[in-house]
Amino acid sequence: MSILLVTGGAGFIGSNFVRHVLESTDRSVIVLDKLTYAGDLGALDGLPSDRYEFVRGDIADAALVDGLADRLGADDAIVHFAAESHNDNSLADPAPFLETNVVGTYTLIEAARRRGLRFHHVSTDEVYGDLELDAPGRFTEATPYNPSSPYSSTKAASDLLVRAWVRSFGLRATISNCSNNYGPYQHVEKFIPRQITNLLRGDRPKVYGSGENVRDWIHTDDHSSAVLAILERGAIGETYLIGADGERSNREVVELLLTAFGRRPDEFDFVGERPGHDLRYAIDSTKLREELDWRPARVDFEKGLHATVEWYRAHETWWGPQKERTEAAYAKVGR
Ligand code: NAD
Ligand code: DAU
Repeated sequence: MSILLVTGGAGFIGSNFVRHVLESTDRSVIVLDKLTYAGDLGALDGLPSDRYEFVRGDIADAALVDGLADRLGADDAIVHFAAESHNDNSLADPAPFLETNVVGTYTLIEAARRRGLRFHHVSTDEVYGDLELDAPGRFTEATPYNPSSPYSSTKAASDLLVRAWVRSFGLRATISNCSNNYGPYQHVEKFIPRQITNLLRGDRPKVYGSGENVRDWIHTDDHSSAVLAILERGAIGETYLIGADGERSNREVVELLLTAFGRRPDEFDFVGERPGHDLRYAIDSTKLREELDWRPARVDFEKGLHATVEWYRAHETWWGPQKERTEAAYAKVGR
């Protein structure tokens, strides 16, 4: 039985991944998480204590990371989700993005390379910049890096560090770049949970700019199965794009949500524009599908969205405490 050291395991995607691993494999998991505003132990409630351990700490703390890495062996791995993840926050204060996304990743890959540990780096499609609405192509592993925001540029920097450590030091690493995730335990600062929780509170959804921006949605369960496939079958040094062909404009998503709540599809507000707002993301995941035989399971976006609405309806005790503070921060910038 091998061990995964999962960084950022108390966040949205990390916590869903931890549950997926514990349910679908016999591996043990150690979660390392700083519990920033985005991390919450409630997302890890009820996990089996004989296969799961939580350590609170910073991925940029080399002594702590070294101590945990010393517990891992040749069959184990570090799976690195921890990040400052929200574009709007990176526009308000980029400093923690540099520290966690760049210095934190550097600290982890140093610990991994000194011990010859397997490392998987979780990244984003935003490193490729954006596409025109009507451009024929989608992002592939060969698309040049062209990040737009403080968030995406620090993620791009972290990817490049991992690539350099593979080439210079033989780090046994893989990288994945995934599109926009949705599902349970996503922080209410993000687009879909913000609109669902607005509607649950009787407020109107808030759409940036024209609402024509397109995101390529994937259920977080499918992101988890893809990361596991890459860990188990991926080739060292390779990058894999993860996506589920889920392109929708922001306006379309809000209209679907309004309809699900029995409201008119035009009952939303246009608010201020996000500076530097990327227009469109779209993933071509052919390499992952053909080389690793991975397929997304939750391909019905409307069904997944309805299930997510029901999850937020049933879990107000989880998201409620974050809502006021999040909306107050948005109000300050007119979004
Ligand atoms: P999130 O903000 O929900 O969670 C991040 C977690 O990392 C939190 O638990 C937080 O406490 C922890 N963390 C932050 N700084 C830390 C530090 N210095 N040390 C230890 N822990 C720290 O993020 P998410 O949306 O779950 O994203 C997880 C990863 O997936 C990120 O690397 C992100 O770039 C990537 N990603 C996200 C999406 C998406 O749609 N959300 C898509 C593709 C890739
Ligand atoms: O593509 C992957 C990325 O997806 C991840 O790397 C990021 O961690 C994740 O946050 C996400 O980035 P986005 O900026 O695309 O996600 P966000 O949920 O912030 O916004 C989605 C879209 O919705 C974007 O076009 C901005 C818009 N938006 C967002 C909010 C919060 C609105 O129109 N209204 C809103 O209230």
